Amino acid sequence: MDDETGTPANGAHPSRKAVLRAAVAASVAAPALLMGVPALARTARDGGPAPELTPECDDGDDPTPPQMEGPYFKPNSPRRTSLVEPGTVGTRLTVGGYVFGRACLPVGGVLLDFWQADHNGAYDNTGFRFRGHQFTDATGKFALTTIVPGLYPGRTRHIHVKVQAPGRPVLTTQLYFPGEPRNNTDPIFDARLLMTVRDAGGAKEASFDFVLDVPQTPGPGPDPTPTPTPPGQAWAAGTAYRTGDRVGYGGRTYTCLISHTAIRGWEPPTTPALWRAV
Ligand SMILES: [Fe+2]
Repeated sequence: MDDETGTPANGAHPSRKAVLRAAVAASVAAPALLMGVPALARTARDGGPAPELTPECDDGDDPTPPQMEGPYFKPNSPRRTSLVEPGTVGTRLTVGGYVFGRACLPVGGVLLDFWQADHNGAYDNTGFRFRGHQFTDATGKFALTTIVPGLYPGRTRHIHVKVQAPGRPVLTTQLYFPGEPRNNTDPIFDARLLMTVRDAGGAKEASFDFVLDVPQTPGPGPDPTPTPTPPGQAWAAGTAYRTGDRVGYGGRTYTCLISHTAIRGWEPPTTPALWRAV
């Protein structure tokens, strides 16, 4: 018995905006932070040009929406990125993505606590099967290895997750699979929470990027008269930097960690994922 459908929510009839957003989310160019690192499946363009720079990951007022916790959350899940154990039955699934704040900058050290049903649609309420937590790395990246959860009465296919940036409130929500017949009848289904899913041999590869209500202040902009800092040139928006390049900014020298094209707001002191002071 499950009471997750007890309270119809705003996902019953997703707004046009929500549907459009979900569609955009499936095809939007990756933030430049993704360039130079292993690209998500949806961002890969075999032999094609690099994705356009996308300074905004959202429209600025629409963080990832919350959903009810349901009856099966358990605290103290083990820290692990794979929920697959010896003998685990089910279609293998990876879920990968990034966590961003309101200024579309990645957030590192974010706690993600996943829990889901097994392939038969049952939750482990005595142990911790299909339960695990992990943290985003410095680029805001997370990766979960699991199986496609089974269906159980009253719900469409979904994965539960709690997401918490350091020192911030917990976002409790659920992730959904496109093309599921029950998406049309589950009263709490929300199209804004659809993952992008593709087949990968006999497995599935899913991606989803979270946007948390985490205030982020882009840097003050490049110093109009930066202090000359040998041996690198002064950092400048619009410049394409490669991993290992050195620049001067604010009297300090930084080394580029990930190839990218600089934009205002990504000054070296504010983007530790891109630049490291030397
Ligand atoms: Fe559930």
